[in-house]
Amino acid sequence: MYEGIKPLKLNVISDIHFYAREMGCEGKAFDKANASASNELYYSKEILTSLMDQLAEDECEIVLVSGDTTCHAERKSHEGVTALLRGLKERGKKVFVITATHDFTGDGYTHLYDGDERKNVPEGVKREELYEFYREFGPDQAIAYHEDSMSFVVQLCDGYRLFALNDDRNHKGASGFSDECFKWIEEQIEDAKKNNQFIIPMTHHPMLSPSPFYTIIGKSNIMGEAEKRIDEFTELGVNYMFTGHTHMQDISYKYTDNSKIFYDITTAGSVGYPATFRQVTFDPAKGQIHVDSVDVKAEINGRPVKEHLEDKFFGMIRRVIQKAGTDIPEFARMATAFSVKEELIYKIGWIIKPFAKLLGSLTIGKLAPLCKKESGLKKSDWAAIKNENVVNFIVSLVANLYGGDSPYTPETPHYKITMGILAIIDSILAVFGIKIGKLLKGAESVQSLVEPLLYNNGICDEKATLNLFDNLPSKEQTKPNFIKSKKGLGVIIGLAVGVIALLPLILLWLIIGFIINWIKYHDKF
Ligand SMILES: [Fe+2]
Ligand SMILES: [Fe+2]
Repeated sequence: MYEGIKPLKLNVISDIHFYAREMGCEGKAFDKANASASNELYYSKEILTSLMDQLAEDECEIVLVSGDTTCHAERKSHEGVTALLRGLKERGKKVFVITATHDFTGDGYTHLYDGDERKNVPEGVKREELYEFYREFGPDQAIAYHEDSMSFVVQLCDGYRLFALNDDRNHKGASGFSDECFKWIEEQIEDAKKNNQFIIPMTHHPMLSPSPFYTIIGKSNIMGEAEKRIDEFTELGVNYMFTGHTHMQDISYKYTDNSKIFYDITTAGSVGYPATFRQVTFDPAKGQIHVDSVDVKAEINGRPVKEHLEDKFFGMIRRVIQKAGTDIPEFARMATAFSVKEELIYKIGWIIKPFAKLLGSLTIGKLAPLCKKESGLKKSDWAAIKNENVVNFIVSLVANLYGGDSPYTPETPHYKITMGILAIIDSILAVFGIKIGKLLKGAESVQSLVEPLLYNNGICDEKATLNLFDNLPSKEQTKPNFIKSKKGLGVIIGLAVGVIALLPLILLWLIIGFIINWIKYHDKF
């Protein structure tokens, strides 16, 4: 199959989320929106301009964009991003774009930031207007176009057809493809096969979850009817998809019931951490795709964009915890980014302060002895990491969820200590009869929830060679053996005894603390 088709290399970018500064870029309301967003709003134009330069200078002739081109469907943002993409075309590249749910509004309204206010203004783009905005990036060159979904097929070059599949609605209240749209896709696949054309499919929503953690917290973000569509695609001989939406760098796979493999290759966002794109080499004759990742080369205030974005989003979490433990006015100011009112922090910040201080000063060396039995580690096993800050470690796990592979495999002390502490927490919850699965569907225990964040059990997210046509045997996913701790009851009794013994002191602390706080900040309530 596909003999004689020469390898092809192209670039895939996703979730570029252009934000036009004309919609407001200073003042309290904008600062709050920018601080709480995982994407960079203020510098999005600078980052994307650098990205376009990088793509223009790259050897690849083709650039795919897998949806979410704007921040919130602002007309000005669509004008800005299409101007950038047009510039790339003018520099000799072929650019193909699908839009997604961030790129239109139902009523034509979007946000404008004016001083302290976030205003609703009729400056958003409706779905039916998107065709005119983006027709030059695919629909005009298409050999087939599906009007309702705005999906299209393009003959990229000899032997290759791009299937740009817009999944922004499936007419059943979710993302995905309507049955009528899928019928069109099926016809196009049959036609491509008949003409010995290798299919490159892209859509926006993930068809496979990038992490078991994401399955629990973001299930509704997976494409509607994904399982059914995966079965149908693989039956038709299409067993991979380029996706976006999660803003995570990921390659996931699944074996279907008839032992066919399906890969979901997700490209991270360009204006949020980790700010990478995909460089992909197709070799249909060998049945292989080689997926690589490239950092967006841009600088913000003299720093690499990756560093800026890591600090913007994850550094913010670290700073909030640090300020909560040391500086109530600053903590109150920062909390507004998470929609917490300043007055509330002035009222209760003094109670949070000692706990935040404790959390901020917590090191792995302080936690490790608490779970000696559960982790099975000796002091010498964790001596090298004893001064590592626990908050920084937790934040790194979240950052790695976005950036791809996390390095803490089951042999590492980080893994064993984390799982040991979580085993104790599971044991405490068990005493109270609390089942985490009731709160978060799919989670069996706190250990099962966090474990996938520690290391990647599957294909390397950053760089991998994927074999498309091997009829691979069904692989059993090995489940980790979660540790059982018996400390729950002891911890609860110990805490209860401690609270009762120290009750007079605790009450005194509460009364004095309340009075001091009232004297200091009552004018801010
Ligand atoms: Fe997005
Ligand atoms: Fe999205």
